Amino acid sequence: MNADQLYSKLRKIRFEKSENREDLRQFCEEKMPLINEILDLKEQKGAVILAHTYVPPEIIYSVADHTGDSYGLSKNARDAKSDLIVFAGVRFMGETAKILSPEKQVIVPATDGGCSLADSITGEDVRRLKKEFPDYTFACYINTTVDVKAACDVVVTSSNVYDIVARMDTDKIYFVPDRLMGLNLIADLEKRGIKKDIKLWDGTCYVHEEFDPALIESSRRMFPGLKILSHPECDPLITNESDFVGSTTQMYDYVVENGNDPTYLVFSECGLASRLEAEKGPFDMVGSCMFCKYMKSNSLENILRVLRNPEPADYIQVDDLIREDALKALNRMFAEAEKK
Ligand code: 13P
Ligand code: SF4
Repeated sequence: MNADQLYSKLRKIRFEKSENREDLRQFCEEKMPLINEILDLKEQKGAVILAHTYVPPEIIYSVADHTGDSYGLSKNARDAKSDLIVFAGVRFMGETAKILSPEKQVIVPATDGGCSLADSITGEDVRRLKKEFPDYTFACYINTTVDVKAACDVVVTSSNVYDIVARMDTDKIYFVPDRLMGLNLIADLEKRGIKKDIKLWDGTCYVHEEFDPALIESSRRMFPGLKILSHPECDPLITNESDFVGSTTQMYDYVVENGNDPTYLVFSECGLASRLEAEKGPFDMVGSCMFCKYMKSNSLENILRVLRNPEPADYIQVDDLIREDALKALNRMFAEAEKK
């Protein structure tokens, strides 16, 4: 890896780097010693580096072994042959990796690995709801703590929530914690002609709830043939008007399949547009994306620190008893998601 290779990727990204190309070239050169040390330590320690699409692109294009959405990265973590997983993402992703691979060491190098969804509900909340609604099946989004997963019957991700819930042999479901994803789920089930009683918790993603649906009408008028994509964490006013709704990887694949001709309006964190531009661009993308402060708190500097000098608090710990219950809910997801 050299500075030119990194520059050749980053220079295509409009949203996340300064337009001043000289600054960007200097940025790439300055990061090279750090990147090379990470690559050396990664090899010495037999580590694998996983990176969610939303983390800073210089991580994705210099040190990451796998990049993707929550579902794909969970499988990468589960199947990794390495003893050490450095998960550039947020804490719930590292916890999921640890649930799936308890024998591996897992570190999330974010300085703030929170998530407004995962932080909106506790295991205690779910246990209380289960007493209140004993005949409901509890489905939780993967953006939850291990304690919440352990209290639920099945985990879902943005890539499989609609299909998994549609196929569940129960018609009373409590879905936590994303209210907007839950409203999208209800709308999707209605479209499929499936009747289920779905109760929702009141969590939201602070990034996706902010997108403005008003952009849709004006953009459709200005750009004939416009393709609108959105994440299921967005408001139904957005998803109902979208040409495609799906996880970050599913949206990425949709754009790749539809090619470079259409103009795109993408309602997602900036990392998705950046990856598309760097890897498959140029594209006509209109509108603006938003940053997740938690995902963007991952950095090359912190990846180097955790590889060079990990502190005990850096390692994700999951209590064994809780882990077993959380694993059951996750394995139910894998079994359902792999059904065709
Ligand atoms: P994906 O699984 O679609 O990548 O979503 C994760 C996430 O946190 C989106 O905000
Ligand atoms: Fe959580 Fe939203 Fe950030 Fe995704 S974008 S990690 S849901 S806060």
